[in-house]
Amino acid sequence: MALPNTIRIEVFLSRSQADEMQLKDKNVVVIDVLRASTTIATALYNGAKEVIPVSSIEHAAKISGNMAGDVILRAGERNAKMIEGFNLGNSPLEYTREVVGGKSIIFVTTNGSGAIVRGRHAKHLLVGAFVNLGTVVGALAQLREDVTIICSGQSENFCLEDAVCAGKIIQDLKSARAGNIELDDAGQAVLSLEKGYGKNILKMLKQSEHGQFLAEIGFGDDLKYCAGVDTVPVLPLFSGNTLRAGGELKRRPAQA
Ligand code: MLT
Repeated sequence: MALPNTIRIEVFLSRSQADEMQLKDKNVVVIDVLRASTTIATALYNGAKEVIPVSSIEHAAKISGNMAGDVILRAGERNAKMIEGFNLGNSPLEYTREVVGGKSIIFVTTNGSGAIVRGRHAKHLLVGAFVNLGTVVGALAQLREDVTIICSGQSENFCLEDAVCAGKIIQDLKSARAGNIELDDAGQAVLSLEKGYGKNILKMLKQSEHGQFLAEIGFGDDLKYCAGVDTVPVLPLFSGNTLRAGGELKRRPAQA
């Protein structure tokens, strides 16, 4: 029987495990270190009004209508490259204050945006990466409720960088002494991966399959950016189909 002060953490090692109804009313963190969650955090930190994640290019085109390019930017990637007719790709380095300040960004990526959409009925949905790790951990430590971490992964499969980031969230939550942490098997596995790979995040990103692919097609600088820890202290919080910066997580009332 779990102690009242116990936080149970379950980890999904790829987004294919994430079922919309199963995530309903849970506290969910979606990770896609390379690069969707790093890019979302950067956009909001640099003053974007909101990021609206969608799961298809058609949907992105439909909701932006003929407003794209003005107050609304269409952004995202296919095969890591900018989609034809879009305003931005998925490199966080493109999302400067000058470009995204005050803008609504319709965002579609291969793995990350779809994983977020699957969690749309969650109680809270946060987007996490290394760049905003401390902010996400701080919010979860304050909340002290059970958490589901979704590693978006690559093409419905496991990927190293999201697993190591999930492990680091767990490790830092343990260090924050937010409560007794109870882990499922996947949680124990990512924690042990973090112990091995977390010491040199850039090296781990360069070793990862998707990191190697990004470097090969000219996005090597993105790896350096995505390896930064706490460089973008922002809490991307999903509400009403939209991610915005900040906001407060509400605790469930205590059971009598
Ligand atoms: C994704 O969502 O699959 C990634 O963010 C791909 C990318 O690196 O652009």
